[in-house]
Amino acid sequence: MAREVTHEERGPAVLDDDDKGDDGLIFVCQCGLSDTKPLCDGSHKATADEEDGVVYKYADDDPDGERREVGELAAEGE
Ligand code: FES
Repeated sequence: MAREVTHEERGPAVLDDDDKGDDGLIFVCQCGLSDTKPLCDGSHKATADEEDGVVYKYADDDPDGERREVGELAAEGE
């Protein structure tokens, strides 16, 4: 699985101690759907049933928005 997301920022984010959770860890979003990038906000739960090899697009990059298939990933070696 994979997904297309729109990124509008043009530079890095600086994280500090205020970004740490109660457990002292910083969770960085890797799914691209968080509203609090670069921090994870739990939006990745929407991706749990994505199928391997399929590329998805969520309307407005909203995990609750309509999800459609926009392509396929080539298998390794192809
Ligand atoms: S990994 Fe993206 S919201 Fe959690």
